[in-house]
Amino acid sequence: MTRRSLIVGTGAYLPAKVVTNDDLARQMDTTDEWIQQRTGIRQRHVAAEGELTSHLAAKASEKALAQAGLKAADVDLIVLATTTPDETFPATATRVQAMLGITRGAAFDVQAVCAGFVYALAVADNFIKAGQAETALVIGAETFTRILDWNDRGTAVLFGDGAGAVVLKAAYGDRGVLSTHLHSDGRGHDALYVDGGPSSTGKVGVVKMQGKEVFRHAVSKLAQVIQEALDANGMKSEQIDWLVPHQANRRIIDGMADKFGLSKEKVVVTVDRHANTSAASVPLALDEAVGDGRIRPGQVVVLEAIGGGLAWGAALVRM
Ligand code: ACO
Repeated sequence: MTRRSLIVGTGAYLPAKVVTNDDLARQMDTTDEWIQQRTGIRQRHVAAEGELTSHLAAKASEKALAQAGLKAADVDLIVLATTTPDETFPATATRVQAMLGITRGAAFDVQAVCAGFVYALAVADNFIKAGQAETALVIGAETFTRILDWNDRGTAVLFGDGAGAVVLKAAYGDRGVLSTHLHSDGRGHDALYVDGGPSSTGKVGVVKMQGKEVFRHAVSKLAQVIQEALDANGMKSEQIDWLVPHQANRRIIDGMADKFGLSKEKVVVTVDRHANTSAASVPLALDEAVGDGRIRPGQVVVLEAIGGGLAWGAALVRM
């Protein structure tokens, strides 16, 4: 029997404050119509002053653990994907560990920007498959609005804050994470990066993006990695019950659905309400569709994401 990582709980947390496109249009030269047409985004959640990535992450994790019917003490691994850590160090995962009252196992951050959750899931899955962990919390959490340039309408309208988490538990059978597929290509640096950091400027910096370039890569690389995941499992796209894509842009999401012949009913979309929450977007969408009963045990789900690096990946999961 194959040892796999079964998703036994999901959880999410969104900050209370909602900022609509019209709210942004009062601050900068943009319109609700432009944002909706180009991206599908209607609104985004924005963390309150003093509300940090670790706070969002801990709240999502508590919900995921409650849904799994597990206690924090059961967790022996925390992998947190974030681009917006509370501090340069220590890892935000260790802050979440302390907030949850966990005192054993390992906790660390993974940095793969918007692909972060898929990367974190792959890392935790490999720990579990290797027998080095039994119960893992995998979190994507961001306060991405803190690294935006509010004078750049080309990026400021695209992002939001939030957190999502899943609990993985070692199990033997045909359900669980079937495979993960990660890629990166550092030549894509200039397409999407933050112009600062501890080693370069000593300042945090803000997001810089060549939108058209990112769009072009997203469509081709996501299609490739989804196909790779299907091929690795000897599956055809007809066997996909749900696509849970990174929520960057409605046009990229629709492009993936069309490419694989998936009807709109099989694609989980939250970008309209959450905008792009970077590493949090996939687990937020997954939690929504598990929570409202769309995604059910035994179904085949594809998770995919791409972001700065460039870094991208996909996971095929039997829930
Ligand atoms: N409101 C109004 N006008 C705007 C805005 C705005 N918020 N932003 C840009 N414009 C203007 C530009 O100035 C430009 O005007 P001009 O023609 O007078 O020069 C015009 O709109 C077109 O700008 P483009 O950048 O060419 O617009 P495009 O059609 O490429 O859409 C977008 C931009 C939405 C960013 C698109 O390129 C995109 O979605 N790219 C993918 C990027 C992405 O999703 N990034 C997220 C992070 S990476 C990831 O998660 C995958």
